[in-house]
Amino acid sequence: MINQIRAKFNELYKTEGSVYASPGRINLIGEHTDYNGGFVFPGAIDKGMIAEIKLNGTDKIRAFALDLNESAEFGLNEEDAPKASWARYIFGVCREIIKRGGKIEGFDTVFAGDVPLGAGMSSSAALESTYAFALNDMLSLGIDKFELAKIGQSTEHNYVGVKCGIMDQFASIFGKKGSLMLLDCRSLEHKYYPFDPKGYKLVLLDSVVKHELASSAYNKRRESCENVAKAIRANHPEVEFLRDATLDMLNEVKNTVSAEDYMRAEYVIEEVQRVMDVCEALEKGDYETVGDRMYGTHHGMSKLYEVSCEELDFLNDIAKKCGVTGSRVMGGGFGGCTINLVKEEIYDAFIKEAFSAYKEKFGHEPKLYNVIISDGARKLL
Ligand code: GLA
Repeated sequence: MINQIRAKFNELYKTEGSVYASPGRINLIGEHTDYNGGFVFPGAIDKGMIAEIKLNGTDKIRAFALDLNESAEFGLNEEDAPKASWARYIFGVCREIIKRGGKIEGFDTVFAGDVPLGAGMSSSAALESTYAFALNDMLSLGIDKFELAKIGQSTEHNYVGVKCGIMDQFASIFGKKGSLMLLDCRSLEHKYYPFDPKGYKLVLLDSVVKHELASSAYNKRRESCENVAKAIRANHPEVEFLRDATLDMLNEVKNTVSAEDYMRAEYVIEEVQRVMDVCEALEKGDYETVGDRMYGTHHGMSKLYEVSCEELDFLNDIAKKCGVTGSRVMGGGFGGCTINLVKEEIYDAFIKEAFSAYKEKFGHEPKLYNVIISDGARKLL
């Protein structure tokens, strides 16, 4: 991929730039907890975005998306926002840096990725982190890594329209080879957990259902959570986020919040606890409990948070039938992947069964990704 990027860069701009990369992420457990001030358990992966970049001495950005074979040219002021959605990520990162007092100059760039789009592996965070990291490095802006992650998150909020939490950008910037990280999304305190479950494989099965229309549904989930946190806060002022709430507190407001908001909050409060359970279990090497909580997350995401879909529920059912230790929808939902913790001895049988049953039911096979947990944003060349 790097060679193709370099060849295109040279063809378009007749020069050579620096090359930066940022990864996508997986998340073992802790879904839709990040914007509730809760805990998540992500890790960066060996797939992501790579970009070649060089300052061009103007105040314009010329960008080329190799995978789409599309170009865009735009300025750095608010009114210069490009139309192409991929270019808005780059523009948004520049604008967010400028808002923080950073001085951005024009540049030429070509980028490509191997993190599948819309598969719940955060291709967008990978793109944001690549440019935030690269510009900070090239222009010696002195922005710390926490702020780089927030720049990506604000890009989503202000230039893409997804009111996401911090998990994806954080994992993409802070990823560490071989380790997952427990991240407290309120304080941003984090702890790395070396993750090499002996005798197990961690595998993603992509339903190949795209979740492009999911942003309004995502924002609606976030609103529900904020409604309930506010209702609980009336009785318990210490509850800043749902992360601080208990099921008892939730039940106190059962009659004042909508049935739908209640279900959403019930899921989140239980999910925060599941992350804690998984941490404890991992410290003991107890993968049965890890897997049990993963199934719990799937059930909650499907029945209470309602962000699963027929295809993902089907993949989850097959996993259960095949005796897979843990399986659940990963990421925001509405399509994308399941993440599966599978004992090595049943791996082949599970994959075979998942492929044939899925194909029979939906007319096409799922995609399979074996995951290697890798480093975060970095300069390659
Ligand atoms: C998306 C968002 C994250 C997080 C997950 C769900 O990936 O970008 O902030 O909320 O969904 O856990």
